[in-house]
Amino acid sequence: MDFLNRILSEERNNNYPLHEYINPQFAKVLKIIGFDKCYDKAEGIYLYDTDNNKYWDFLGGYGVFNIGRNHPFLKEVLKNYIDQDSASLVQMEAPLASGILAKKLLELVPKQDLDIVYFTNSGTESIETAIKFAHGATGRQKLLFLDHAFHGLTNGSLSINGNKEFRLGFDPLIPGCESILLNDTKTLEEKLSTKEFAAFIFEPIQGKGVYIPDPLFLRKAEELCKKTDTLFIVDEIQTGFGRCGKMFCFEHYGITPDMILVSKALSGGFVPIGAVLTRRSIYDKVFSSLDRCVVHSSTFGQNNFACIGGLATLEVLRKEELIPKAHNMGEYFSTKLNTLKEKYEFVKEIRGKGLMIGIEFGSPQKLTLKMGWNLINKINEGLFAQVISMSLMRKYKILTQVSGHKVNIIKVLPPLVLSKSDIDYFVDSLDALLQESEKFPGPIWEMGKSFLKV
Ligand SMILES: Cc1ncc(COP(=O)(O)O)c(C=O)c1O
Repeated sequence: MDFLNRILSEERNNNYPLHEYINPQFAKVLKIIGFDKCYDKAEGIYLYDTDNNKYWDFLGGYGVFNIGRNHPFLKEVLKNYIDQDSASLVQMEAPLASGILAKKLLELVPKQDLDIVYFTNSGTESIETAIKFAHGATGRQKLLFLDHAFHGLTNGSLSINGNKEFRLGFDPLIPGCESILLNDTKTLEEKLSTKEFAAFIFEPIQGKGVYIPDPLFLRKAEELCKKTDTLFIVDEIQTGFGRCGKMFCFEHYGITPDMILVSKALSGGFVPIGAVLTRRSIYDKVFSSLDRCVVHSSTFGQNNFACIGGLATLEVLRKEELIPKAHNMGEYFSTKLNTLKEKYEFVKEIRGKGLMIGIEFGSPQKLTLKMGWNLINKINEGLFAQVISMSLMRKYKILTQVSGHKVNIIKVLPPLVLSKSDIDYFVDSLDALLQESEKFPGPIWEMGKSFLKV
């Protein structure tokens, strides 16, 4: 047996005991919620465990697998690249692959008014880069961000995180970071008019909760940023590369950012990558002399394997017309989910763009159901959505996630290659669960109550 098969088969199905070495608390949570599967194979939107059971992946690796898992074209390109024995990470050179990818990424920007790219290895590293560039280019200390924002979990990104659960216990973070409520134009104007802020950083749809900004708010924000020389920075790390039915989600709002931050789906899922697309005028203030030519850099940035993955992924998005597909499938999905909203009091709102959709649950009017709702949300705020997500997995082998702390919102983020029948399967399964949840007491509520024992 070859090395790879031997080393993996020796520990087959030992995933969870082995994770005592990595994150025992997370492994424990996965067990409690019944997500402790041992996945072995994957294709498109499907996962298969070691017993060859099929699962529907509506989480998409947190938005990494826009082109689907193990896409044959991407695999072929990456295999060919390895066979070429290329020179990567020479460091004291200008790699060809990153140059080509930078050019192609800039061509994707509407109006093509951005002209330079900095490559990173992850989403949070794109954010850290933007923070440094914003401070370096403007000489200002402060950063403005939104309540509920999620931009990653390293120190700088955490400093502009709008969820206190993530920040708790990690002070001191970067000083001078201030948040405002989404769509609060008045406070935005008050803050920006001080001209103390280096940048306003935002997601075009907030990943935690799937909250959608008012287009007028973002247009006003752009106008105010321009007027006050504040950088207008869009985090497209989750929303980019077709996820929301356009190449970049900000295109829905008719705005023009100074920086676009990407990662996740860019390289198709095999190799980490991230990038900051921006203006030369900003870059020149950071890399301001020959002496400062590597004042910001990272060992694995621009690695050829990631950049080749990026080039192949962009080709798949184009060739398979996945962006209009995401738009059309998103419409189909949202329309079907809205029929559940009409049918069940528990469904409060369906919102999103393309294939980034939030399903928000809320308290029903009917007295017995309200009792059940209050009971389980008292055990743990947001537990209703958690029980639905757990039941989707347990009964229908559908992988989803609750979208944030203490919220009754499930977010779906499937690979863009899914079919209408996958959507039908999801909606029919959710329909059956909601029907079940109308029986109180009943199995759904019992599952919620079982959390009392945890
Ligand atoms: C909008 C957004 N920004 C930044 C990040 C951080 O990316 P990473 O996990 O690669 O550090 C995420 C991750 O989920 C994200 O959704």
